Amino acid sequence: MDYNCSSALQQSVTISTIDISKPRRQNLSIGGSYTTVRIQMRKLRLRNIYLFLRSLYKCHYEECQPHAFKHLSTGCKRELSFTSLRERESSSFVMEELRETRITENMSEEEEDARAEVDIWRYVFGFAEMAVVKCAIELGIAEVMEGHGTPMTLSELSTQLGCEPTPLHRIMRVLVHRRVFKEKFTSNGTRGYALTPLSSRLMKHGKRSMAALVLLESSPVMLAPWHALSACVRGNGPPPFKVAHGEDVWSYATGHPTHSKLISDAMACDAGLAVPAIVEECCDVFDGVGTLVDVGGADGTTLRMLVKAFPWIRGINFDLPHVVSVAPACDGVVHIGGDMFDYVPNTDVAFLKWVLHDWGDEECIDILRKCREAIPEDKGKVIIVEAVIEEEEEHRLKDVRLMLDMVMMAHTNKGKERTAKEWSFVLGQAGFSRHTVKPIRAVQSVIVAFP
Ligand SMILES: C[S@@+](CC[C@H](N)C(=O)[O-])C[C@H]1O[C@@H](n2cnc3c(N)ncnc32)[C@H](O)[C@@H]1O
Repeated sequence: MDYNCSSALQQSVTISTIDISKPRRQNLSIGGSYTTVRIQMRKLRLRNIYLFLRSLYKCHYEECQPHAFKHLSTGCKRELSFTSLRERESSSFVMEELRETRITENMSEEEEDARAEVDIWRYVFGFAEMAVVKCAIELGIAEVMEGHGTPMTLSELSTQLGCEPTPLHRIMRVLVHRRVFKEKFTSNGTRGYALTPLSSRLMKHGKRSMAALVLLESSPVMLAPWHALSACVRGNGPPPFKVAHGEDVWSYATGHPTHSKLISDAMACDAGLAVPAIVEECCDVFDGVGTLVDVGGADGTTLRMLVKAFPWIRGINFDLPHVVSVAPACDGVVHIGGDMFDYVPNTDVAFLKWVLHDWGDEECIDILRKCREAIPEDKGKVIIVEAVIEEEEEHRLKDVRLMLDMVMMAHTNKGKERTAKEWSFVLGQAGFSRHTVKPIRAVQSVIVAFP
């Protein structure tokens, strides 16, 4: 099991990847006056576990440090425990994190029931969570706080945002509870609000911004199809997007430039997350590449980043004509409008990020064949950036990948996220002789297929 501690939770912590392989049995017990976390594993790297627990702890409870930490070792069974200064907070926090990473296997029925009693409310109010975050983005709360530079009181925030203090206080109370913002004292000792690592993801600009993805998924156009999901699962209805809008998402985007821009902006924001991981973790894949076609490359953001990182590459951004006609110009990138079901421009490497998951197997094989025809038989390759659904093992992003699969069900005709076996199937059917799969620190993995 991999815990990447430089991820979502761990911005302030300087450790990178912790490898905890094959958990065998794991227990969590909360002591009366201190917190004990017991983890039993076949291969235990004590230092990594220590860092993992301590970093989780430090990240959310900056002001309280473990004042004791010890480990015991008896053969293959080892026990780590640490004692906190603020026992109650740390114990509930550690319990919550461990549950989220699904390492509590030994829950009793009563514990499961107690958990369900709380969990069910997440589904009752699931949409409200998205709506509150959307509201924060639309109001530009994080941007105003960033501009201010120091913690802001409610009165300062409401004045700058031009909002009523009472409803703003209620919104902020929820957002603080969800760690989107935090409470901090201002320089003159009054209570104020400050940014957290989550806040920067809600800003409309910046390297970490995910605002455009929230705005796309929470748009009325993308929300409407979800109401037709059960009919789609029963198999007695057209695809949900078609039920809601009378056509598929790509034809809809052709006739609705505002929605098309919403999609391209959201894709650009995912490029900002995934491409740096590709560049850092798979740079050898781009060695000696002359030309690279980004098939379904949207506004060219991905390609701009790739060409900047690997300046020897000549990039072709290939997407539907209405998409490339509004794509910004960029040195080293040529925009070509066309339909990938007709052809893919000739190239050394065809690159597809978050394109194949929009399509069922038949179309996916068709697109891959077009890519195969476009590359040289001897040194050509196809680079695919897509999620790989884990069948057995757990991963901190597994839930995101499963939700993405639901998004495909709601928003495309036959699109889906695929397991490693399903990727092998479509690649084999498209005539590729072999492929490699490399997980990166993103929702997607990098699959490289060879003719
Ligand atoms: C989910 S987006 C992915 C965008 C981009 N690759 C990224 O990940 O940032 C899918 C893209 O496929 C494009 N697309 C859909 N149908 C297409 C077709 N028939 N030919 C070329 N591009 C197409 C869409 O316009 C859209 O930009």
